[in-house]
Amino acid sequence: MTETKIYGHRGCMGTLPENTLLGFRQAIELGADGIEIDVHMTKDGEIVVIHDEILDRTTNGTGYVKDHSLKEIKQFSAGMNYAHFPNYEEAWNLERIPALQEVLELLAPYKIELNIELKTCHFRYEHLEEKVLSLVKEYGDGRKVVYSSFHLPSILRIKQIDQNAEIAWLLDQQISHPKDYLQSLELEALHLSRGTFFSDVFSYKDLLEKTRIWTVNDIDGLKQLLDLGVNTIITDFPEKALFYKSERKTFA
Ligand code: G3P
Ligand code: CA
Repeated sequence: MTETKIYGHRGCMGTLPENTLLGFRQAIELGADGIEIDVHMTKDGEIVVIHDEILDRTTNGTGYVKDHSLKEIKQFSAGMNYAHFPNYEEAWNLERIPALQEVLELLAPYKIELNIELKTCHFRYEHLEEKVLSLVKEYGDGRKVVYSSFHLPSILRIKQIDQNAEIAWLLDQQISHPKDYLQSLELEALHLSRGTFFSDVFSYKDLLEKTRIWTVNDIDGLKQLLDLGVNTIITDFPEKALFYKSERKTFA
């Protein structure tokens, strides 16, 4: 059985502003095996790391990412909306929405995996896939990168452009014969929601090494997935998951 990896969801979104360099640095310091990030495209064609199509929830900006240039987007704080977090510090207000390039540069010295979720369900960002691949090629330092999306054509496009790219399909519903999809679409993995996986563990029993499960924050879920040996757990609290993982090793 391979050892389950722990990815920090949007960095460390349970404790720090999501999709920020602050959160990514923390995931690196904790020793997470990887981070999961979300990407969109700006009006001037830059790839930025943010979860929503709009700026309103996570920043003090308003409107769509696609309607702002990178320069405009950089004026907004990606930290000040988190003042309700118990560990909030005023310095968070200085966090900005990172460009994908900045994230790749931050990770460069570290052997940490990167899961880039292409947020292409709502808007058809022209050439987003090409741009993401070219940034990874230039700044990725050969690290393991997994491209995922709910929008299947997006990851298929990635594979079409780069046959060596590792792609994963994000699912929050059951599919029949998952192995068939893995093989026929040349998927590196399926990224299943916690509920999808646990409602039919049997279907995935021979595919555990090819499943990453999101978003798992509860102790029972974390422990069960570690026992089963899924490929990766994606969690808002990598510190907690890494603790249970090391505890398991100590008593093995
Ligand atoms: O990649 C797993 C998970 O992040 C997908 O859902 O909404 O958190 O981006 P969401
Ligand atoms: Ca995501």
